[in-house]
Parts: sequence; structure tokens; C-alpha cells
Amino acid sequence: MVKTTLLAVAAAATLAFAPAHAQAPGSKLKVGLMLPATGTFAALGNAIENGFKLYVTEQGGKLGGRDIEYVKVDDESDPAKATDNVNKLIKRDNVDVIVGTVHSGVAMAMAKVAKDTGTLLMVPNAGADAVTGPMCAQNIFRSSFTNYQPGYAMGEVVAKKGHKNVVTITWKYAAGDESVKGFKEAFEKGGGKVLKDLSLPFPGVEFQALLTEIASLKPDAVYTFFAGGGAVKFVKDYAAAGLKGKIPLYGAGFLTDGTLEAQGADAEGLFTALHYADSLNTPRDNAFRLAYAKTYKLQPDVYAVQGYDAAQMLAVGLNAVKGDTTKKAEIAAAIRKAKIDSPRGAFTVSANHNPVQDFYLRQVVKGENKSVGIASKALVDPGRGCKM
Ligand code: PHB
Repeated sequence: MVKTTLLAVAAAATLAFAPAHAQAPGSKLKVGLMLPATGTFAALGNAIENGFKLYVTEQGGKLGGRDIEYVKVDDESDPAKATDNVNKLIKRDNVDVIVGTVHSGVAMAMAKVAKDTGTLLMVPNAGADAVTGPMCAQNIFRSSFTNYQPGYAMGEVVAKKGHKNVVTITWKYAAGDESVKGFKEAFEKGGGKVLKDLSLPFPGVEFQALLTEIASLKPDAVYTFFAGGGAVKFVKDYAAAGLKGKIPLYGAGFLTDGTLEAQGADAEGLFTALHYADSLNTPRDNAFRLAYAKTYKLQPDVYAVQGYDAAQMLAVGLNAVKGDTTKKAEIAAAIRKAKIDSPRGAFTVSANHNPVQDFYLRQVVKGENKSVGIASKALVDPGRGCKM
């Protein structure tokens, strides 16, 4: 009796989480790409899409034995529109899996809906700690990082360089706040002190008053999180304000990734920490860079790698269940025990579904993010608050 009841409950639960369109064998796998196509993160969204599609093409256009159909939405990096956008993909377009996004605030709204509906979600950038923290779920995976990770790695480096007093500057939203928090945790452990945290609303680029404040505070160094178009402007404004060469500027590696062409000489010499660099020179990365450059006539960046690896992780999961996206537990088990053969270097996925990976210390040399060592080896996100 108890057994029958339990079975009935289990069956009901499965039905509740099954997508409305139970998939016919051999039907196309619908992939919802929810990425920014406009605004300060537009280029990042484009690189992620390119990377994802490159891996799929290398697999003959299939994942888990199923042909792929893409449905795209421009999320505009706008958290206010995120819940509607993700609901449209799930309810109107009946996607089997969602890939997205760049902006942490948008990603948190996506994770909430994914968790509530049981829809598979692959996060190819947004570092919001909560997505693999309190919001973690069996059906949510990240191929990128938590905001904590590069911040923490850079905090260790800046402390070891002997800097004592630092000012931080970033956009006031989850990614900026969490990057600074990770930095502070490691920097203070290493004996440093943060004099002041400066910020401006996302995606603002009116840096002038804040740069004047930095000049008058005279810290030993500055730590920053900016990305995309905002990062280009910040690096140029920092130099134009006469601070470059006077007060060393350090950042999470997004500051100089996918941005170097536009930043030019103003970025030369900057040190950053990230899970990718332009000069890894491994057979795996060389093959990836060549294929990407041939296909898109563009150099890849960290976002392209994360998109590529989101497809790789999805392939691992779907191959284990022959493309049946309703088998969430089996998909999760396969991804958790996999070693992902990433261009960044092979990585594993922690219990909270975030990459365990090395963070490179990079320096901008002749327009490239050159790896000059390892800032933090096999750095694990603590996954605070995650209960699967
Ligand atoms: C984020 O919002 O989490 C974010 C955005 C852009 C980046 C990195 C993180 O380059």
C-alpha cells in the first residue's frame, strides 16, 4: 500500500515536471538561447552563441542523438524583463533546454523559473553566486564561474604583491558586489585593507567623479569588475585621468577580455585573473582557436569558451540519457562525474554544478591576455547555501 502510494506520488511528480510537449523519439531538441544582443554585453552574448554552435557543429549538428533547433531571445541584460522572457521560451516555444545568460540579475530570474518548472538551464556566463548557491538545483548547471572565483584569485595576488590599501570600483549589482566580496575575502586574509568601495549603477559609464575620488584617496592599488563596453570605457578613462602608471589597476579578467582591440595601448601591462588566457598554447586550445577563427573570422575570448563548454556539458548529460531531457537525475549524475575537455584546461563540476578550475594570472602584452602563471589552482566555489 505504502509502496503503491509512493509510486503514485513519484509518477505525479514526474508528470508535474515533464514539459508539456513530451518529446517524440527522434524529435528535434529545442534550445532556447537567452542572451544579450543589444547593450553593453551584446558582444559577449554573440561570442557565447558562436561558441555553443561551434561545438554543436563539431558533433555533426546533434546533441544526445537529436538534431538541434534554436529559439533566440534578446534579454537586453534587463532583469525587469527576464521572467517574462524565460516564461515565453518555456511556455510558448516549449524549449527543452535554456542556455543563458550574461547578466547576473537576469540569470537569477532565469534560475528561479528553471527551478520551479524543472527546465534544464545551462548558464554560460553570469556569475551570480546564488545560482549555484541557495538557488542550486539538479537541473541547473554553469559552464563559467561564480563571481566569487576571479575576485578571490585576484585578492590573493594583490596581497602577495605587497599592496596594503586598496580602493574597489564596480557596477552596483550582484556581479560587481560579489566580485568585490571575493576579492576582499582573500585580500584581507593576506593582510590587506580596503579603504573604500566605489560604485555606479549598471550599465553606467560616468566614471569621472569616481576617478577624481580615487586620485584623492591615493590607494596603493585599485581592484575593479567591469565587462564588455563598460570595461572598454573604464580602462580608457583610467588612463585619460592620468592614473595609469601611478596607481596600479587590477581586475577580474573580464576587464580585458574581448575588449583589447578597443582599449588599445591603455590596456597594455594590466594584470587580471581569469579561467582563460589568450596564450595557453595547448593542443586543445590551439585547435579550438583555429576552428573558431576559421568559422567566425574573429578571435575567441572567455565568453566563446564558456558557450562552447556549455554545449559540451549538455552533450555529456544528454548522451547519458540518449537525448531524453526528462531524465534530470541521470543527466546531473553524468555531468557531475565528467571531466570537461575545455580549451581553458580540463575541469570538473562541483556538487553545486559550478566548474572547479584554475585561475590564470594574465598580463596584457602586445594586445593579448598572456598567461604569466596560476593565480589560484583548482579553485572551488564554496557553494554557500546550496542544498540539492
Ligand atoms: C555577471 O553579470 O555575472 C557578469 C557579466 C559580465 C561578465 C562577467 C559577469 O563579464
